[in-house]
Amino acid sequence: MADIHPPDTLSTVPPTPAGLLSNREKDTLIERAFTGLYRWYTARSQETRNWNADLSFDWRSLRADLPEDVITVIQGFFAVEQYAPDYTSELLNLVRASHGRSHFQMRWGSEEEKHADAWENAVLFSRQRTPEWIREYKERLKSKQWELPFPDAIHNLVYTVFQERATQLNYLNLMKIAQGKSDKPHLQGVEDPILAQVAQTIAIDEAAHYNFFLEGVRLYLYYYPQKTLEAIKNVIGQFSMPAQQLVPDWDHFFETVYKAGIYGPRDFSRDVMQVAFRNLGIESRKKLEEGIKKTREVPDFEGEQARTTIIWDTFDYGAIEGDVKRLHVKIQDYEKKIGLDELDPTEFVENPEVPRAKPGE
Ligand SMILES: [Fe+2]
Ligand SMILES: [Fe+2]
Repeated sequence: MADIHPPDTLSTVPPTPAGLLSNREKDTLIERAFTGLYRWYTARSQETRNWNADLSFDWRSLRADLPEDVITVIQGFFAVEQYAPDYTSELLNLVRASHGRSHFQMRWGSEEEKHADAWENAVLFSRQRTPEWIREYKERLKSKQWELPFPDAIHNLVYTVFQERATQLNYLNLMKIAQGKSDKPHLQGVEDPILAQVAQTIAIDEAAHYNFFLEGVRLYLYYYPQKTLEAIKNVIGQFSMPAQQLVPDWDHFFETVYKAGIYGPRDFSRDVMQVAFRNLGIESRKKLEEGIKKTREVPDFEGEQARTTIIWDTFDYGAIEGDVKRLHVKIQDYEKKIGLDELDPTEFVENPEVPRAKPGE
C-alpha cells in the first residue's frame, strides 16, 4: 500500500526509484522481523531464564561482612535498576505502534523489574543497610523521574545496545570479585557464592537484551544505513549510564566502581564500543566518523547515488546482510515449530540498494 500524503505535500515526497524498496516497505519488513524476534525471544526467556528474585537465591547465606565498597556497588546497581518502570513506560510509549517492539518492551520491563528486586534483596540481606534506610532511599530515588535520552526511536534503540552491553559488563566484573578473582588488593577475600550467582544470573539477562536490541539495530542498518550510522555516531558521542543524573552520590558510586576494576572509560571503549562495533560491522569510531563526514561533503550535483556509495563503504554490509539473513532463518525455524510458516511466514527481503559484486570481481 502506498503512503498517503495530502496533495499539497506531494511534491516534497521524493519518489522511490523503480526497483528500490519504499520506506513503507522497509518499515513493514523491519516490523515483521521485530515481531518474529520478539516471539522467539519470549519463548526462550520463559524456557531458559525464568528465575525469581526471591526464590532463586539462598538469601540467608549472603555474607553479612561484605566490604563497604561492594555494598556501594550493589546499592548503585539497585538504584539504576529500580527505575525499570520509568524505562519501560517511556520506551513503550515511543514504540507503541509496533507490535514486536512494544510487546518486547513489556517483556523486557518484566525482566528489568526482577533485576531491581534482586539487587534490593542483596542490599537488604547484606545486613549493612536497614529496611528503613532502604525505604527512604527508594522514596528519594522515586521522587525523580527518568526521561528518554533521545527524542526518537532509532537513537534510543542504538543507545540501549550500548547501555545493555555496559550493564552486562558491570555485573560480570562484580561476579568476578564475588568469585574471589579480583586483582585489587582492597577486594581480596570477598568470595560470596550467592552474590556471584545473583550477578551472573542478571548478566545473562543483560546479554539477551543486548542481543535483541543489536538485532534491531542491524535491521535498521541494513535497510536505513545512513540514518542508523548517524544515530550510532551521535549516541557514542554522548554516552552515559542511565539514571546518572538521578541517583544521589553518583560520583562516589562511579569512583567505587572504577576503583574496583568494574567499569570505567577504558572498559567502555574496549569492551562496550568495540564489541558493539564488531557486531555491527563497523571497523572503528574513526572510520564511522570519516564515512559520515564524506557523505556530507558530496556535492549536490553528484547526487544521491554518490552519497549512497560512500555510506555502504562505511561498514561491512556483507556481514550485516549475513546477520539479517541468519536472524530470519532463526525466526523461520521458530515459526515452523508452531506451524506459523504455513499461515504467515516471516520472509527475508533483500535491500536492492546493497552494492553487489559484479561477476569476475
Ligand atoms: Fe537490568
Ligand atoms: Fe537490561
